[in-house]
Amino acid sequence: EILRCLVGSEMCIRDRGDEMKVLVTGGAGFIASHTDVELLQAGYEVVVLDNLYNASEEALKRVEKITGKPVTFYKEDIRNEAGMEEIFKKEKPDAVIHFAGLKAVGESCREPLKYFDNNFTGTINLLKVMERTGCKNLVFSSSATVYGIPKTVPITEDAPLSVLNPYGRTKLVIEDMLRDIYAADSTWNIALLRYFNPIGAHESGEIGEDPQGIPNNLLPYVAKVAVGELECINVFGDDYDTPDGTGVRDYIHVVDLAIGHIKALEKLATNPGIVTYNLGTGIGYSVLDIIHNFEKACGKTLPYKIVERRPGDAAICYSDPTKAEKELGWKAERGIDKMCEDSWRWQSKNPKGYNA
Ligand code: NAD
Ligand code: UD1
Repeated sequence: EILRCLVGSEMCIRDRGDEMKVLVTGGAGFIASHTDVELLQAGYEVVVLDNLYNASEEALKRVEKITGKPVTFYKEDIRNEAGMEEIFKKEKPDAVIHFAGLKAVGESCREPLKYFDNNFTGTINLLKVMERTGCKNLVFSSSATVYGIPKTVPITEDAPLSVLNPYGRTKLVIEDMLRDIYAADSTWNIALLRYFNPIGAHESGEIGEDPQGIPNNLLPYVAKVAVGELECINVFGDDYDTPDGTGVRDYIHVVDLAIGHIKALEKLATNPGIVTYNLGTGIGYSVLDIIHNFEKACGKTLPYKIVERRPGDAAICYSDPTKAEKELGWKAERGIDKMCEDSWRWQSKNPKGYNA
């Protein structure tokens, strides 16, 4: 095995035939499983570390089915530093994509410690292990939640940051921590990716979002009404200052989002230091737009009722994605029709998710 480049923390650019290895924390989850597929198809080797708290190993079997390539899987928790260190020493990854985390906003308000422990302590452990084992290339799953209630849209990366809930605070604190770590040691290469609203599924219908219990987010809720598992969509307020009065968001196809991670890894290979990108489409759709587009995709009329606003919701939130386009050569390509069609294909093929 010839390593052409192992200078400082530079990513190893290995010789022909030798794949670059990426360790994916939370790698069995919704966004990560789609990223695994894109990684494998782009020729990366994939090692998944997941405690399966909100995921199923079946997702990884489906990833292997789609790609015809193997995934190395470790059932491990990012809070177990010793366990992670063993994996890092054995696998020697070139880079880490860090998805592992809890993401339910309401639960984070009721159980903030659980969120700080899992997301924050877990990330500290991961970073300590990365530092000790000399793997300093990191892509981190941040969120548009770090913009709080945006004062203006579209949101650029230099917009003011704030938090609305403990979940959002874990994301912002981790971002701040990564900026501090880079300021102290510039051999790290870090990409902070701020996702807007990922929806859709792989077009094979083999992998998709599989929330446990009643979904908090709009799209999985709509999909469960379409498949007959839930009765009626609750639209959280129709008196916002938006074209139809319902909340406007920047929904992005999960496959476009996954491809953004490949572009970020390519960027890290150029030793950029710490970089931050919005991953969104730059287009806002309302709750009613989503319902009507989903109706087209599934060929049914979907019952909905207007209820109270949900506390903490912004009226309008959408990205300015031009920085990612300029610097990563990445742009979301799949439109709202495709997002709803793919989401419906996954939901109708797997009405009970992975646990059928
Ligand atoms: P997900 O729940 O499907 O994926 C998270 C994965 O992390 C799951 O497989 C879970 O089992 C695993 N995990 C959780 N805690 C762990 C731990 N302590 N140790 C090991 N594994 C652990 O969620 P997702 O929607 O795919 O989100 C992935 C990441 O992207 C999260 O960090 C989330 O906060 C972030 N994000 C998601 C959205 C969204 O709308 N889905 C938006 C912005 C940011
Ligand atoms: C939410 C979180 C955000 C998190 C993201 C991904 C809040 C306040 N924000 O974003 O921090 O990063 O999920 O996990 O929880 N809606 C309905 N009915 C529903 C569900 C949602 O009308 O049953 C509306 C909402 O009011 C909003 C839109 O649909 O206008 C999208 O909501 P959702 O899918 O929950 O995403 P966000 O609120 O944008």
